[in-house]
Amino acid sequence: MTTEAKVAPPNPTPIVLSGIRPTGEIHLGNYFGAIRHFIDLQETDNDCLFFVADLHALTTAMEDKIDLDAASIDVLRWYLACGVDPSKALIYRQSDILEIPFFNLLLSMIAPEGEVRRCTTFKEKSADMETKNKMVTVGLFAYPVLMAADILFCNADIVPVGEDQLQHLEIAREIARRYNHYFGDNHLIVEPQPLKTAAIRVPGLVGEGKMSKSTGGPGNVIYLSDTPKQIRKKVMAAVTDTGPVVGEPMSQPMVNLYELLKLVAPSEVYEEYLARHATGEQKFYGYLKQAIAEHMTALIEPIQARYHSAECSAERVQEILDASSAKVRKIAQKNLAGMLKDMKFEHLAKQLAP
Ligand code: TYM
Repeated sequence: MTTEAKVAPPNPTPIVLSGIRPTGEIHLGNYFGAIRHFIDLQETDNDCLFFVADLHALTTAMEDKIDLDAASIDVLRWYLACGVDPSKALIYRQSDILEIPFFNLLLSMIAPEGEVRRCTTFKEKSADMETKNKMVTVGLFAYPVLMAADILFCNADIVPVGEDQLQHLEIAREIARRYNHYFGDNHLIVEPQPLKTAAIRVPGLVGEGKMSKSTGGPGNVIYLSDTPKQIRKKVMAAVTDTGPVVGEPMSQPMVNLYELLKLVAPSEVYEEYLARHATGEQKFYGYLKQAIAEHMTALIEPIQARYHSAECSAERVQEILDASSAKVRKIAQKNLAGMLKDMKFEHLAKQLAP
């Protein structure tokens, strides 16, 4: 770009936005990469918007046969159970915001095809679907553009997501820059930033990959709905090595287990087990795994208790959604009107903001 770049100033009160797809049960990867930060961020001086990305789930939902309505309500019940507070954050469902698909369409006109095609998630997901004879759709390919619409419609400043979503976020930033450059006369779009502390990769229990609903099978993931017995069984089955060797680097399976311990246990417990490894102690991995399972259970049990309470019922979620969608749509309409005006669709802009 040759002329001076047009840049939107950050919002006076930072806008924080993030979402989760309703494609399976919420797990510890979602908790530590996302939800935990939602709770921290709603406590400080931010305008928070947290949603369930049901349109994104549609990229694979027909093939996976997901009941999107039920699965979306369930994700939001877990939000509430973890402590996301409707009096401090707007909690909504992506598909209730009818303006988002319009943003998606407009932004797709300036989305860089090459970068979208290079997305690791698309390459992995489409390869996996092809081997299973499942249909790869345009919607799946254009996933990052819809994600950009989710983020840019409200001019979000901060997007707390795990490491796996950073590439998508970079595309949203690129789209924002392009919009500002080509069209941003009156309405400018803020370039959203990741939250550095959130952008982690929570390891799975099987193999070397991340904790994920779609890879490694059920033994790879600790769900927030798991019983203490299930947690114990999965953790005790995790791969280790034959024992530490002083002076040698830690093997990958052990690095993964220590990362999990660090996330769930107090720092002194983590340090104690780290020292046992560093001094070459043998035959303590069983205790290490027990400690991981116990601390996971201690974290999850109160969340489960809240999940089953009336404050987190499906009815309560519906009430929250009924109240939030109009508020979020108002934000969307204001920004959409600004964009449409700049893009020379004045007739539409006037309808939205007469
Ligand atoms: P999704 O549903 O795959 O995951 C939801 C959130 O959980 C994080 N996460 C992890 N973090 C660390 N380690 C892991 N093993 C792990 N597994 C999952 C993800 O990084 C994510 O933050 N595209 C998004 C949903 C979305 C979105 C958005 C997010 C749609 N529009 C706009 C932010 C802003 C997704 O598929 O997340």
